[in-house]
Amino acid sequence: MAETLTSTYGPWGIVAGGSDGVGAAFAQGMASRGMNVVLVARRLPVLEACADDIRAQHGVEVRTVALDLGSPGALAALARATSDLEVGLFVYNAGGDDRSVAFLDKDLDTHLGLVHRNCVAVLEAAYRFGGPMVDRKRGAMVLVTSGAAWAGGATLAAYGATKAFDLILAESLWAEWRDSGVDVLGLVLGRTDTPSLRRAEEAQGRAYDGKSADPKDVAEEALDHLAEGPTWISGSSTPTGGSPFGGLNRRHAVLAMSRSVSALGGKLAGKEEQHGRSVSE
Ligand SMILES: NC(=O)c1ccc[n+]([C@@H]2O[C@H](COP(=O)([O-])OP(=O)(O)OC[C@H]3O[C@@H](n4cnc5c(N)ncnc54)[C@H](OP(=O)(O)O)[C@@H]3O)[C@@H](O)[C@H]2O)c1
Repeated sequence: MAETLTSTYGPWGIVAGGSDGVGAAFAQGMASRGMNVVLVARRLPVLEACADDIRAQHGVEVRTVALDLGSPGALAALARATSDLEVGLFVYNAGGDDRSVAFLDKDLDTHLGLVHRNCVAVLEAAYRFGGPMVDRKRGAMVLVTSGAAWAGGATLAAYGATKAFDLILAESLWAEWRDSGVDVLGLVLGRTDTPSLRRAEEAQGRAYDGKSADPKDVAEEALDHLAEGPTWISGSSTPTGGSPFGGLNRRHAVLAMSRSVSALGGKLAGKEEQHGRSVSE
């Protein structure tokens, strides 16, 4: 009999950022393979609607935990809320940036919140939930990252840096845990049709052009290739391959990245109507 997700990894999965877009698609995909799921997000009504939908469609158990992954103590609270469960698969999905503008056009607290949610909390999730997996000698972690991790670029400073952190964290943990029965996948996404992307495009005054990946395809592809880490480039013809910038020197890669973000509506300093800089005491 073919091994199932639950027989390979365990009965429960957690999706951090699991109420819409790619995260909800992961939760649906895990539930369709018989795994009970814990969904984490901030907006309780969206979270509950997604949970009801999964219960109705797949008949698995679903637990919701409403919290802000960008706030201190979030992962400790999540560990407490799930301490009675054997968590065999952890997907850290939340991580988008809803406003691509120049570094100094965002206030400092916004940058720090992004770093907390995309770096500190991801590391804490890996530590708190990966540790028991290594002890049990089975489990899997997916850290969702982005093509923004491949090189720096104007209007990507904090976001791209956090995504590079996630990529290197996933690759390093894969190397450490590969002989422990724990699979780690750094999942690199390109443009994907999620509510978050649509909100970002609307904020930039761009009409959605329909040219982005379907979250369901992204999640299914990743679930089919959990054991093929360290890195999976979603939708690529060479998904385990290297950076699309290949042999370009760093300067040319950074300039190419900056041009592509600008083409997608990223705004450079001085182009914001109001300067958004502020530092709280
Ligand atoms: N969409 C793209 O084009 C694209 C491209 C490249 C990479 N990615 C990566 O793919 C991942 C998913 O992106 P996405 O577009 O689906 O948007 P996202 O905003 O990263 O994820 C949406 C999900 O995360 C939850 N969430 C967001 N911030 C949270 C927080 N502080 N605390 C708890 N939950 C939070 C949202 O619910 P609540 O808002 O209710 O909290 C929702 O369930 C991200 O890591 C992103 O970097 C996306």
